[in-house]
Amino acid sequence: MSQFKTVRGMRDFLPEEAKIMKYIEEKARRVAELYGYQEIITPVVESYELLAAKTGEEIRSRMFAFRDLGDRMVALRPEFTASVARLVATTLKNEPKPLRLFSVGSVYRYDEPQRGRYREFWQSNYELMGSDKPEADAEILMLTNSLMKSVGLRNYTFKVGHVGVLRGIMTEENLDEKTQNAVMQLMDKKMYDEALNLVKDSGTKEDCIITLQKLVELKGGDVFDTVKRMRECVGGYKKAEDAVENLYKILKLVSESESKIAFMVDAGFARGLEYYTGMIFEVIVPEIDIALGGGGRYDRLIELFGGEPTPAVGVAHGIDRIMLAMQTQKIPMEKREENRVVVIPTKEEFVGRAMEISRRLREASIPTEVEVMGRKIAKALEDADRRRIKYAIIVGEKELKEGAVVIRDLIKREQKIVKLEKIIEEII
Ligand code: HAM
Repeated sequence: MSQFKTVRGMRDFLPEEAKIMKYIEEKARRVAELYGYQEIITPVVESYELLAAKTGEEIRSRMFAFRDLGDRMVALRPEFTASVARLVATTLKNEPKPLRLFSVGSVYRYDEPQRGRYREFWQSNYELMGSDKPEADAEILMLTNSLMKSVGLRNYTFKVGHVGVLRGIMTEENLDEKTQNAVMQLMDKKMYDEALNLVKDSGTKEDCIITLQKLVELKGGDVFDTVKRMRECVGGYKKAEDAVENLYKILKLVSESESKIAFMVDAGFARGLEYYTGMIFEVIVPEIDIALGGGGRYDRLIELFGGEPTPAVGVAHGIDRIMLAMQTQKIPMEKREENRVVVIPTKEEFVGRAMEISRRLREASIPTEVEVMGRKIAKALEDADRRRIKYAIIVGEKELKEGAVVIRDLIKREQKIVKLEKIIEEII
């Protein structure tokens, strides 16, 4: 049989990387706790119809979709938002609002594999349901900043925009939703000329095209100045004016929180997902030039799934990409001093005693392994040394007779005889 390897776009995480992934996941879970988000677990497999509604053509065409043995059209989730919205439209529909929900796990998209782009990847996802206020949007921006900060990342920027600006103008110009979606998809791919041509082909007047052209080019790191220029640009389009005002309020709240986020406002910014109705954003680090996270406001999805009209805003962070950014910026994980122990019996008849000692140590929360290869002490110690284990407990005949063992500190390279009942206090 040929040698097996992982399927294209799928990866193994060996211990070093698995550790970093879990570390980021724990940081994300901590952020959820700090902001009052409760964790839920939803299925990896959902109905195709649910996942396809409003995800946008880009993601829809890249789903792992198939018929199950019961002839149901299903797919592997490409994101969490549809599943959480399904829950809020059904089982959780009578829960008091706001609802703050957190999820973490693997998601699947048939993307073209490259650095930072995989077909199976991990997201930490936060949804805030039930508030249409700018403080809800500000909270999502702030918690994203908290996560990036807590893993130690530097130099990241938040690119932010508002779907209501471009859509507001197109709605007032009577462009149907299908055309608007197509325009937004092109904008997301930075195909601005094609996007504007599409608007032109729909018979929109020249003035409007000029306004859209100006918006597409309007961006800047001086947040309030850029918003002011946006306001001037959309003058006369009421819906777009409201959107700019909303964006201004969100950014003002974040600024008042003194979160010190480096923003880049981009008036022509669009995202691949179709459900957004308001503020949208992505987090970028210059070193890898791909988004570490993205999100925004989507006020109509829950009602589309048959629930009560429920405004909502959320974000998903790419855990794999956060790891990549940490590696690129050479950011170590916070050191947790761990006194790992290996217990080595010198003879077969002491294996039971070694098992007993290891059980006691674990019950005292000390990570402990037992030598299970039956190796001689020197070999077992050499192996423990290589794996940077701190202590070896050697269970030998002479010491046992006196109710004791030898504890060897593999870092300081010294050892002493310790009574059986004193082992734990010696190591802690
Ligand atoms: P998204 O922008 O499609 O948003 O994905 C969020 C993050 O997932 C991206 O910023 C990126 O870090 C990561 N990601 C996306 N594709 C890949 C890939 N092929 N390989 C590795 N990482 C990837 C959403 O998923 C929305 N559900 C976010 C949201 C929640 N909006 C509202 N609530």
